[in-house]
Amino acid sequence: MDTKIWKLSGKVPFSPEDRKMIEEAAGVIREGGLVAFPTETVYGLGGNALDADASARIYAAKGRPSDNPLIAHISSMEELIPLIREVPETGKKLAAAYWPGPLTMVFPKSGLVPLETTGGLDTVAVRMPSDPAAAMLIRAAGVPIAAPSANTSGRPSPTTAQHVMQDLMGKIDGILDGGPVGIGLESTIVDVTGEMPVLLRPGAITVEMMNSVVGEVPVDPAILGPAAPDLVPKAPGMKYRHYAPKADLTLVEGDVTRVPAVILDMAREKIREGKKTGILCTEEMRHYFPGDFVKCVGRRSEEETIAHNLYAVLREFDDEGYEYIFSEGFPSDHLGRAIMNRLHKAAGYHIVKI
Ligand code: TXA
Ligand code: MG
Repeated sequence: MDTKIWKLSGKVPFSPEDRKMIEEAAGVIREGGLVAFPTETVYGLGGNALDADASARIYAAKGRPSDNPLIAHISSMEELIPLIREVPETGKKLAAAYWPGPLTMVFPKSGLVPLETTGGLDTVAVRMPSDPAAAMLIRAAGVPIAAPSANTSGRPSPTTAQHVMQDLMGKIDGILDGGPVGIGLESTIVDVTGEMPVLLRPGAITVEMMNSVVGEVPVDPAILGPAAPDLVPKAPGMKYRHYAPKADLTLVEGDVTRVPAVILDMAREKIREGKKTGILCTEEMRHYFPGDFVKCVGRRSEEETIAHNLYAVLREFDDEGYEYIFSEGFPSDHLGRAIMNRLHKAAGYHIVKI
């Protein structure tokens, strides 16, 4: 299959040429095809959320297990109502505060949404992205767009159109290239079907931000990691070893004054064994690791930068054939909670605490 690339100018408001490209991409989705597109979080692989065949094609293109439900993307509150049976009060408040934006909410689904889209669940996850190209694409398609992250299943999510090309060229109809995304980590997911909203996946809309709007937001205990090995996460995707680099990743967490020495010892041992070994670190730690086997994700104090760079750096290690990666742990409050959630999963919970 030929994959068409539509390259947007990156300027907003859109030029007539940009509009034409977005409308063409929207037409492909309306006719049952698959188009990858930018959002403020990561690139998504879009198809008509109301079309069971389109959802089946999304699973096939990604190599994704079909019990892992897709998020339906909308561009206005009016588009939400037909998809769901009711809007819970907490859902209304969170939507008013954080939509459009990097927040996905799980609602009881209506009969309009096929079970193929929701992986067999009677709930549907919905998000209203703020990225202007995404919003215009959804509006122009005239249907809600089902979109998982546009990576091959198990690879880090794509934060540029080039990442999407690496994974899906020849497997989908087109890619809308809107340049690098802003946030770099997938949206926060919160289940609003019960008495209290429950956090299923941390993201850029933090628990603290939601607390100020709806009070307490408990965390699905199953996403806390190996501490709860028998729990089944409510977001089925959280059970897979997602975001996984090909290399074996180890995190070293604890006293930051001792972390660099421990990392260097472990890395040197692998290098002695003849393994291609890299270190993922922050700018503050960079000077402890002389050599070209080091990749930086940004300053320790700037969570936004770390989130923005993390997946691209993990992909670079992959592309260069690294077998082992050692990384420091990062502060885990606010956006850091999402960063560490993804890193813990990428590491298969291989964590050395010192
Ligand atoms: O930022 C994002 O959310 C990106 C962009 C493209 O919007 N999308 C994304 O989709 O990350 P995906 O498919 O990679 O992750 C969706 C997650 C999965 O863990 C899935 O199990 C969960 O959402 N999910 C979807 N529908 C659900 C539902 N009805 N109940 C619980 N979890 C659900
Ligand atoms: Mg994904």
